[in-house]
Amino acid sequence: MRLYTPSSSLQANTQQSESMVRGGNLRLVGTWVVAVALLLLVGLAMRSTTRREDGGEVRGPVRALSAINRQAPHPLRQPQHQNVLETQYLNNVNVERCGGRKWVEGLPPLYIVTPTYPRAEQVPELTRTAQTLMNVPNVVWIVSEDSAISSPSVVQYLNETGLSTVYLRVQMPSKYKRVKNKPRGVANRMAGINWVRANAKDGVLYFADDDNTYDIRIFEQMRWTQRVSMFPVGLVTKLGVSTPIVKNGKVVGFYDGWIAKRKFPVDMAGFAVSVQFLLERPLAFMPYRVGYEEDGFINSLGIKAADIEPLAFNCTKIWVWHTQTKKNEAATPVNKTSVTIGTNLDIISEQLWKGPGTKLKI
Ligand code: UGA
Ligand code: MN
Repeated sequence: MRLYTPSSSLQANTQQSESMVRGGNLRLVGTWVVAVALLLLVGLAMRSTTRREDGGEVRGPVRALSAINRQAPHPLRQPQHQNVLETQYLNNVNVERCGGRKWVEGLPPLYIVTPTYPRAEQVPELTRTAQTLMNVPNVVWIVSEDSAISSPSVVQYLNETGLSTVYLRVQMPSKYKRVKNKPRGVANRMAGINWVRANAKDGVLYFADDDNTYDIRIFEQMRWTQRVSMFPVGLVTKLGVSTPIVKNGKVVGFYDGWIAKRKFPVDMAGFAVSVQFLLERPLAFMPYRVGYEEDGFINSLGIKAADIEPLAFNCTKIWVWHTQTKKNEAATPVNKTSVTIGTNLDIISEQLWKGPGTKLKI
């Protein structure tokens, strides 16, 4: 650097012989600078390629996207801008986050407990549920995973939603795992209940299985639950619906395809509970009893059918559906050939469910 200061140039003019030697030095230093820079560039390029090929890091495509864009832009990862307006619009969109959380001061919070477990449909189911909840303000989404280890794809996806999320991991006790008809989602819902007990003071608790379909209007109505509210759930049993029977604004019975001596024959997605009401009942719990999880829990709250608050316009609207997703088979692994290596398939292959034990990256 010193060689380029004006005083050095002046010196070089007056002392020619020395300036020639200096010029030689200058060229030598310049060559070295270029060589070192080249080596650095080659090193960086090799580093990013190795990383992408071995995929040794836990990272999803969004993180990978920003990492790749920073290092060596991959043509496949570039947005295909159509015009100036779209370019401006896309530059203002944070591609690393979905919609994000909405919070309105003073509105009672909804504590939504979603039991989930690793399988091919897990990320798709959580995607649908998340995109619904993005349209609802003041939601704390408690995703409780029934698994021996946390799924990185789930944790990463929760972060990407921008919602207020709580991630819990718990396992179904092994004695229930062995039986054919398992009490699904109980251990993880109980973990959610305990989290609410420890962290919430007001608002409303709701159990939202990951595979159901929710109309956001039900969330706005359940937000004002005083004790326990109930509403119809579509696609339950051959009757096509499970709902309280409402007369003159009061719950007078239940319409459900499987009554089975249950006092509250309702679906898990068909009721919501006031957090204060729950906190006043420290012994309330969900039993590990297949088919009786809802009834057992509502009974343990000690509520009378006459005190149930019917929502969805006196249970005349079906705003929750017991959708059941078709089970998908494990994906055939992507063949590593000259056709696939170095393409998007390197990244996509990490997002495919390959059977139990798969650690998905998204
Ligand atoms: C129905 C009810 O909708 C559930 O609320 C109830 O827990 C279940 O029956 C039952 O009685 O066992 P269904 O659609 O038949 O649910 O069951 P799934 O959707 O397979 O499981 C219910 C929830 O538990 C889901 O959110 C699922 O992700 C979760 N689950 C399932 C686990 O956490 N672990 C499992 O091993 C299986
Ligand atoms: Mn289900």
